[in-house]
Amino acid sequence: MKVSKLLLGLLIGCAALGANAQIIIKFSHVVAVDTPKGKASELFAKRAAELTKGKVKVEVYPNSQLYKDKEEMEALQLGAVQMLAPSMSKFGPLGVKEFEVFDLPFIFDDTADLHKVTKGPVGAALMAKLEPKGIHGLAFWDNGFKVFTANTPLHVPADYRGKKFRIQSSKVLEEEIRSVGGIPQVMAFSEVYQAMQTGVVDGNENTISNVYTQKMHEVQKHLSITNHGYIGYAVIVNKKFWDGLPADVRTALEQAMKEATDYANGIAQEENDQALAGIKKAGKTTVYIPTKEERMALKKAMVTVHAKMSDRVGQETLQAIYKATGFDPAKL
Ligand code: LMR
Repeated sequence: MKVSKLLLGLLIGCAALGANAQIIIKFSHVVAVDTPKGKASELFAKRAAELTKGKVKVEVYPNSQLYKDKEEMEALQLGAVQMLAPSMSKFGPLGVKEFEVFDLPFIFDDTADLHKVTKGPVGAALMAKLEPKGIHGLAFWDNGFKVFTANTPLHVPADYRGKKFRIQSSKVLEEEIRSVGGIPQVMAFSEVYQAMQTGVVDGNENTISNVYTQKMHEVQKHLSITNHGYIGYAVIVNKKFWDGLPADVRTALEQAMKEATDYANGIAQEENDQALAGIKKAGKTTVYIPTKEERMALKKAMVTVHAKMSDRVGQETLQAIYKATGFDPAKL
């Protein structure tokens, strides 16, 4: 009698604990807090707590604190973290090569072009390709267009020749650097500053907010606003974890994600503008805006990558993007 009472108490206690236990979401990312992704993930954490009335606690780990680029994706698949927002380039190594379509140089003229893809059927089809990998896609977050940095001026394509540029692990980006005679160097984001400082690489391509918040401008004398490509993120969760959440919690998290997405996409340009002002103010880097002709020369050299990589990113995906944006590489 005594024992069964004890057991019953224990069971009730466990059930209560189970019902009240806080759900922890570990959200890991590689950039600084003071970036579009850094700020949006903080807002998501805040809104997730509010909308679930404390049932969910999102722990954000910025700056590669927990995992570097490649490890991040493995950690998500294993369930060591529940949520990430990797750049599109990070999905190629996972085997979802279609995501590298976003790395194609000059494929988007501006953010409006990009949104035709991320907010349309192509974006949805890309997210669906993650499901068999045990990953569920929640949203696309913007960062912005990329610039090039180096210790020597980068005006015309010949200026890139023989220079070592750090890139993310993407076959498309490798070809992009090769298209102007540069030497691509794949490296984790957290290692770029030191590689620049020690001369392991000559330069890199990234968004201005990433250049500034990683202090790359302290170790790079030149920055060229080429806007030749785009960096944005797919916010993803471990599918098993997501599917296992109570339906009301999932709905609240979807709402929190919607708000965080609007916020991220609303501040991205501003963050990059402020970062540019910061770089100029620091006075260590010469900021250059290529002339129309110089940019066109870069575009013509780099657009050759589209045809070269069309099989890798998938003809179907590529053509769907051309159709959505109206871009025609043959018309340059
Ligand atoms: C990079 O590795 O250069 C970027 O993708 C980092 C990021 O997440 O913005």
